[in-house]
Amino acid sequence: MPLTRKAYRAAILHSIADPAIVGIEASYEYFEDGLLVVDNGQISALGHASELLPTLPVDIDVTHYQDALITPGFIDTHIHLPQTGMVGAYGEQLLDWLNTYTFPCESQFADKAHADEVADIFIKELLRNGTTTALVFGSVHPQSVNSFFEAAQQLDLRMIAGKVMMDRNAPDYLTDTAESSYVESKALIERWHGKGRLHYAVTPRFAPTSTPEQLTLAGQLLSEFPDLYMQTHISENLKEIEWVKELFPERKGYLDVYDHYQLLGERSVFAHGVHLCDDECARLAETGSAISFCPTSNFFLGSGLFNLPMAEKHKLNVGIGTDVGGGTSFSLLQTLNEAYKVMQLQGARLSPFKSLYLATLGGARALRLEDKIGTLQPGTDADFLVLDYNATPLLGYRLKQANNIAETLFVLMTLGDDRTVLQTYAAGNLVHQR
Ligand code: GUN
Ligand code: ZN
Repeated sequence: MPLTRKAYRAAILHSIADPAIVGIEASYEYFEDGLLVVDNGQISALGHASELLPTLPVDIDVTHYQDALITPGFIDTHIHLPQTGMVGAYGEQLLDWLNTYTFPCESQFADKAHADEVADIFIKELLRNGTTTALVFGSVHPQSVNSFFEAAQQLDLRMIAGKVMMDRNAPDYLTDTAESSYVESKALIERWHGKGRLHYAVTPRFAPTSTPEQLTLAGQLLSEFPDLYMQTHISENLKEIEWVKELFPERKGYLDVYDHYQLLGERSVFAHGVHLCDDECARLAETGSAISFCPTSNFFLGSGLFNLPMAEKHKLNVGIGTDVGGGTSFSLLQTLNEAYKVMQLQGARLSPFKSLYLATLGGARALRLEDKIGTLQPGTDADFLVLDYNATPLLGYRLKQANNIAETLFVLMTLGDDRTVLQTYAAGNLVHQR
């Protein structure tokens, strides 16, 4: 294949470390007039345009953007594909919301044509919002994952997904069995895991909807295949936590249920963790597990405020998640806007550079993919965004008053949304143009 080389010139910003560990100034690189060089779907160089341009052939194809910022593609560490059609469902907290809205909506995925249609809408919506990698819950039906991976494969996206395992405490029309969930998950793993840029996640919905037999088999799958992911929910809502105590009285607490069935580990991502205690954070950190912080969902479902400083104290890996349809936006910019308010309500701050970290490198680390995505380091996949400073009249006017990249970044995260994403590139290909 002939080498395809392209260069992109604009202001360029990426995270290179966690501000909570190295301090804000050492956590990012910013090139006011930067150049990003892409060869065959990978980043081959990043630097100041004035330094890099003379080293390149004079006829290289350079796209030059004015009033724009290039960043890595965003990483959504928790989202539900089959809930695309029920974002913004009124009036309930978690357990009633699941029964009233979520389960009926997910039941529609028994129909393959419906699964295909929603997978297409869902992927377009991710890319419109600048999300290039997501950790995705399917429905209980294997075809929800087949439809999603087929669509993601066509665009050469780096995506992770799994079929929900759920064999109790849900309507009959939406449950599998311990045995069928094992067999169906295994078939999906054999078909998709490691194919191109796709990865599989073993996906027990949450402790209340799985029998001990099903949780045992989820752990068995993780031990049978290398580098599989595990995704589930934890400690999101107080009634949910009480229910877990009733269902598993022999366990020390919610996390201990998952620990007992060997579901903790370096590729395990637990959504929410709003009500985790200090010991549970320590155990998650010790096992290399990660938390997905889902602020729009935690506000919308009235779940509570995630304690990010406690997670930082334990050096726990944290990524950010939209949790659509409990969450109310596909936009990670809007999700960071809400994350800032979660910190404000706890008397804490969320710096724009920590926010950038959460949406990029922090997410990549939560998924153990930091050598491939999350930064613009040479050698990584060319998954990046062009953000438009003039996306709306107010944004354009407000950013003219910004004095430095910290202020610009914060305003982008406060006023920005899907309209801010001018272009999305995945593996060097333009996959969304506003
Ligand atoms: N806990 C179990 N299932 C779900 C779900 O679909 N959404 C959220 N937010 N929490 C859950
Ligand atoms: Zn969720």
